[in-house]
Amino acid sequence: MDRLAIIGGRPLFGEAPISGAKNSALKVMAASLLTEETLALTNVPRLADVDMLLRLLEQHGVAHEFNGSSLSLSAKEITSTEAPYDLVRKMRASFNVLGPLLARERQAKVSLPGGCAIGARPVDLHLKALIAMGAEIELDEGYVIASAPNGLKGAGISFPFVSVGATEHVMLAGVLADGETIINNAAREPEIVDLADCLNKMGAKVSGAGHSKITITGVDKLSGADHEVLPDRIETGAYAMAVGATGGELTLTGAKSDLLGAALPVLIETGLEIEDTDKGLRVRKTQNRLNAVGIITQPFPGFPTDLQAQFMALMATADGVSTIKETIFENRFMHAPELSRMGANISVNGQTATVRGVERLRGAPVMATDLRASMSLIIAALAAEGQSMINRVYHLDRGFERLEEKLSNCGALIERVGG
Ligand code: UD1
Repeated sequence: MDRLAIIGGRPLFGEAPISGAKNSALKVMAASLLTEETLALTNVPRLADVDMLLRLLEQHGVAHEFNGSSLSLSAKEITSTEAPYDLVRKMRASFNVLGPLLARERQAKVSLPGGCAIGARPVDLHLKALIAMGAEIELDEGYVIASAPNGLKGAGISFPFVSVGATEHVMLAGVLADGETIINNAAREPEIVDLADCLNKMGAKVSGAGHSKITITGVDKLSGADHEVLPDRIETGAYAMAVGATGGELTLTGAKSDLLGAALPVLIETGLEIEDTDKGLRVRKTQNRLNAVGIITQPFPGFPTDLQAQFMALMATADGVSTIKETIFENRFMHAPELSRMGANISVNGQTATVRGVERLRGAPVMATDLRASMSLIIAALAAEGQSMINRVYHLDRGFERLEEKLSNCGALIERVGG
């Protein structure tokens, strides 16, 4: 199993390219199931999660060609409407093939996604919404067996709380449904807007994406389209925090500050200088220790749960006490004990972590527990004195493209060790 060896204490300088957003790429890729024509995507990150979804799409009959970061997908014919356990369990986003398969083929058998280290993550909202749209759904031996013999129908869906995946799922199903679907309390993440843009280029009628009410007027057929995936706001925030932890100045090429939501004012409050330029986002640290700032994770435009772990690493050496409250996932502080192994002073009480900033962290062997937690350990290791060895980096390969290359080009001492 690969590990990452990092010798910390070196500031980062230069340019780091920001890749296309994983969480957007996965959803627009699923949209390829909705048309016989070719969906040509650009700015697609080469990540383990993207490969995993490609394997699933392939077995549904989707032909694909990757060329650099361009990916063309063509689902001329759906050859199988079954999404097997082995391909769905490793990545929850795979579950979102259910809606498009049901919309196009009127039937699907899709494995329930497995549990996940950061919490239970059920799919009840997805299923209730599809049922409201006329799907008949049975659960059998871990599979969702769904059919819509007369096709899906538009419906009014009011979510009791915000779910990114369920909002996207209803969009993917509603575009080919008969009539109008209205989603109330929809997620407002930039990836939702990106998916709506892509679907609209394919001939769909989706309006209101980015707001809490989305209206989808079903059409008979969708066509192919060209679509560029938006930049990854989580990678952007993580690299900005790496500068905050190590010092230096990075230009995050291709990044956009308006995608960061509440993370932008929070990072500025810590003392980081952040500026939009022609090339992307310039991030600079000019003070010795950053200011401690408290956060509460919230759906967009609130502070993203996907940056909570990295922010905790940043606060580990801030000047003062920071409280971090996680409201989206119930078990998302697994990085806290690992950061403590590096000398951080963190106490966790339920869904709240209190971080008392220390002057410096020390390198240590640590274990990555999930995707974003892995990045928090990288940030801490880059800032720490001495060497850290980060185990289980396969989590990282799911969501951060060419991480070692990007960081070493900016002066970090980071090396992948096999075995
Ligand atoms: C997506 C992102 C993930 C991010 C999360 C929240 C992708 C591939 N993943 O995940 O990186 O952390 O949004 O921003 O885009 N829930 C239910 N029932 C449901 C659906 C969700 O109880 O049917 C709960 C979840 O367990 C969680 C909360 O709702 O506690 C929010 O989850 P959701 O927004 O759906 O996250 P994902 O779409 O899985």
